[in-house]
Amino acid sequence: MPISVRGLIHTYDPDTPFARQVLFGVDLEVGDGEIVGIAGPSRSGKSTLAQYLGGLLRPRQPGMVVIDGIDTGAPDADIAAVRTRVGMVFQFPEDQLFERTVELDVGYAPRLMKMNPADVEARVREALETVGMPFEEFRGRPVHALSGGQKRRVAVAGVLAKGCRTLVLDEPTAGLDPLGREEMLELVASLHRQGLTIVMISNQLEELARMVERLVVLAEGRVAADGPVRRVVSDAALLASTGLRPPGTVAAMQAFAAAGLPVRTDCLTVDEVCDEVARAAGGVRRA
Ligand SMILES: Nc1ncnc2c1ncn2[C@@H]1O[C@H](COP(=O)(O)OP(=O)(O)O)[C@@H](O)[C@H]1O
Ligand SMILES: [Mg+2]
Repeated sequence: MPISVRGLIHTYDPDTPFARQVLFGVDLEVGDGEIVGIAGPSRSGKSTLAQYLGGLLRPRQPGMVVIDGIDTGAPDADIAAVRTRVGMVFQFPEDQLFERTVELDVGYAPRLMKMNPADVEARVREALETVGMPFEEFRGRPVHALSGGQKRRVAVAGVLAKGCRTLVLDEPTAGLDPLGREEMLELVASLHRQGLTIVMISNQLEELARMVERLVVLAEGRVAADGPVRRVVSDAALLASTGLRPPGTVAAMQAFAAAGLPVRTDCLTVDEVCDEVARAAGGVRRA
C-alpha cells in the first residue's frame, strides 16, 4: 500500500496563541496503481495533507502516516527513502525548481544519489521525454524562461528522475492557460496508464471528474466523502454543504431531473448526457 493515513491531526503554530488546528482526524488509503482525487474548497487542508503524503510534514500529534511501509512519525523513519517513493509536485512550481537549466534541475536528485554522469543523463533524458519535452530541445533551456505548463512538467520530470512511483500533484493545473492545462491533464493520465500511483488535488470537480476513479472530498479538515467518482460528484447534498460546484455535466442532469425528466445525474461526459437524455425522452440519439 503506497499511502496509509490514520486519524491525522495537524495544528499550525501549536503551543502558541496562534495555534490553529486544520486537520481533524483524516483517514486515507491509496492503493498501488490507483488514481485518487482530493477535492475541497480553499483552506480545507488539502495542501497541508499533501505535505504529509510526501513526507514533508511528519505526524507530531495523534495520527499515523505510512508511506510504502515507512511510518513517517517514527523518530528513526528513513525520510530520504520516502522522498524517493513519493514525488510531490507543488502548487507553485517555482517553489521546487532552483537550478539554472532544465537538465541540471531534473538531474538534481540523480546527481545527489552519486550516479555516474552517463546514467544521470540517461535518467534526465527519459524523464523529459516522458513529460513530452524532448531532451535535446530542452536540456539547455533556462528554467525561468519556461512557460507555466513547462515548469510544471519539469517538476514532474524531476520526481520521475528520482525514481518515484507515486505522485502527489497539488493543484497541477492552477493558473495554467487552457492548452497548458490540457497538456498537464493528459500527462497525468498517461503516467497513470504507465502504472504510477497518482493523488491529484484540485478545487475543480470538473477536471477531477474526468481524471480519477475515486474521489475524496476534504471539508474543513475532515474527509466528507470517499468513494467512486460518479457517486461523489452526483451527491448534490454533499456538494452543497461543502460549497463545491458539481461538474457541468452533472449540473445539467440535475436541471433535467428537477424539470421532471427521469434521468440519472451522474454523467461525466457530454456523450453520456446526450445518451441519457435521449433514453429518458424515449427517443433515439442521432449520430
Ligand atoms: N504555514 C502555515 N502557517 C499557519 N497556517 C497555515 C499555514 N499553511 C496553511 N495554513 C492554514 O491552514 C488552513 C489550510 O490550508 P491549506 O492546507 O493550504 O488548504 P488548501 O490547500 O485546501 O487551500 C488554512 O486556513 C491556512 O490559512
Ligand atoms: Mg492548497
